[in-house]
Amino acid sequence: MADTEKAVLEVRNLKVEFPGRRGVATALSEVSLSIRPGEILGVVGESGAGKSMTGLAIQGLLERPGRIADGEIWLGDRRIDQLSDREMETIRGREIGAIFQDPLTSLNPLFTVGAQLTETIRQHLDMGRAEARARAISLLKDVGIPSPEDRFNQYPHQFSGGMRQRVVIALALAASPKLIIADEPTTALDVSIQAQITSLLRKLCKEKQTAVMLVTHDMGVIAETADRIAVMYAGRLVEIGPVAEVLHAPKHPYTRGLMASIPALGARVERLNQIDGSMPRLDAIPNGCAFNPRCRDAGPRCSRDRPSLTPAGAGASACWINAGGTA
Ligand SMILES: Nc1ncnc2c1ncn2[C@@H]1O[C@H](COP(=O)(O)OP(=O)(O)OP(=O)(O)O)[C@@H](O)[C@H]1O
Ligand SMILES: [Mg+2]
Repeated sequence: MADTEKAVLEVRNLKVEFPGRRGVATALSEVSLSIRPGEILGVVGESGAGKSMTGLAIQGLLERPGRIADGEIWLGDRRIDQLSDREMETIRGREIGAIFQDPLTSLNPLFTVGAQLTETIRQHLDMGRAEARARAISLLKDVGIPSPEDRFNQYPHQFSGGMRQRVVIALALAASPKLIIADEPTTALDVSIQAQITSLLRKLCKEKQTAVMLVTHDMGVIAETADRIAVMYAGRLVEIGPVAEVLHAPKHPYTRGLMASIPALGARVERLNQIDGSMPRLDAIPNGCAFNPRCRDAGPRCSRDRPSLTPAGAGASACWINAGGTA
């Protein structure tokens, strides 16, 4: 893909803070990433690394008193990190679609699937009732729901878990957003259904040229779905690069540990937590590289200076060792 192609999403040097009684906790630091049209960026890392927080910050959904303390978020040509809640409300749904782990958080049990789809469509697009209905049925068809005309009149409880998540994908796509943020979209589903949903997401993203940020613990899902992978650790990006390179030639020692913890190609792991030790809490992040106490290769510099992302292979890594110098 040409480097000149305009990114749909560009996050620059994002910092998120939570002021509290015992000082300010920094949940995200120096997070920079971009996603192009039709590209899927997989975001991985241990529990608490900041994956969901990144997605929430982009959508303007940080829980108060959480705040963006530094950096910029651009959606195409528009800077969106300083918009009012009201302006962000119109961007959510219209320009950024969301898919969460549990389909039931996105669906109202009291309304038919068709009513919810048409309402979302009419909220964002200038369409009459009949036109919105036709679009809703066509979206249900797009996401692989059989007999969409009949399903239109049914309630969420009449759908299986996998079918419900397909409806949520249809809802996220209702207004043809430029970007979809999917946070663990298959974790709550049966393993047998997970691959169907992620391949559907990939197919739709490619067809509609939607940029997708896909947060998941599942390296199998990432390997099959993502074009590039971003690896997070303790609120920072430690590595980002093309999927094949991050999977097969990881640059950062943390990524290498993650990859080594995958039992076998295609096998699914519940949690990526098999590196000795554990990720530090936000209020106890070590000096230097946050990963240094767990890193076999760490040298004196690693506990002194914090490495920033620097080009490594086809991607970038935040590590003194691959920065070319000595650790
Ligand atoms: N409302 C909040 N106030 C303060 N800190 C928070 C708040 N919500 C989350 N955090 C902290 O922000 C950090 C990042 O959390 P986040 O939910 O993004 O992790 P995650 O990578 O999505 O993890 P998981 O894989 O478990 O979903 C964690 O240390 C968490 O404790
Ligand atoms: Mg999360």
